[in-house]
Amino acid sequence: TSPVVVAIDGPSGSGKSSVSKAVAARLGLAYLDTGAMYRAATVWSMETADLDDAASVATAVRAMPLVMGLDPAAPGVELDGRDVAVTIRTTEVTTAVSKVASNLDVRAELKRLQREIIDQESSAADAVFSGGRGIVAEGRDITTVVAPDADVRVLLTASEEARLRRRSLEVHGAADATAVDATRDQVLRRDRDDAKVTQFHVAADGVATVDSSDLDFEQTVDAVLAVVAQAE
Ligand code: C5P
Repeated sequence: TSPVVVAIDGPSGSGKSSVSKAVAARLGLAYLDTGAMYRAATVWSMETADLDDAASVATAVRAMPLVMGLDPAAPGVELDGRDVAVTIRTTEVTTAVSKVASNLDVRAELKRLQREIIDQESSAADAVFSGGRGIVAEGRDITTVVAPDADVRVLLTASEEARLRRRSLEVHGAADATAVDATRDQVLRRDRDDAKVTQFHVAADGVATVDSSDLDFEQTVDAVLAVVAQAE
């Protein structure tokens, strides 16, 4: 069978990370979390550059010693040999990431790295994880900019209410009114900032939409697998 590249985009709280991991695991593909790369770039910039100086951030990110683990069962992020999987999810990093992600030189560099990883995993000779079977890559601009020629392209959406509920459960371990309110500002502000540089609310031409608002996790995974099956 020929290698398959599956591109999945969506806003925060759409469930795209957990769904993408499950899809990759089911299909025996590598998994690339591009959001984790922007988060790692943010950590690295906080440590080695001035966040308010776009040129210094771009220079830092070009020299960033980043290694992405591609196993969907245990995706890793290493910066200079350090495991930063926990650091990249802190509130401090989540709050700063959109600023780093809006730096066009940073985007160009990460796009280059992402394409390199996608090409590598879809080549039997160079694959690190999947043996060349392919990869599921998820983020905000994978279906449109990073891999517009992917075999399968999916936009995973969900209503604002469903997204806030999921994010609230993730961050606060609860989805009562108080917890949802605490999540709302952060989620909506980040989506608004991200939407200035990436387009992930409307499916581009040829991109399948999966709306997970009324689906549970397994149903969402099945819906994405059905899109993949259709393409084969
Ligand atoms: O998906 P996640 O919430 O981890 O993404 C973190 C941030 O990385 C997003 O808020 C966005 O600013 C940025 N991002 C991006 N393009 C991608 C993936 C993530 O700009 N393809």
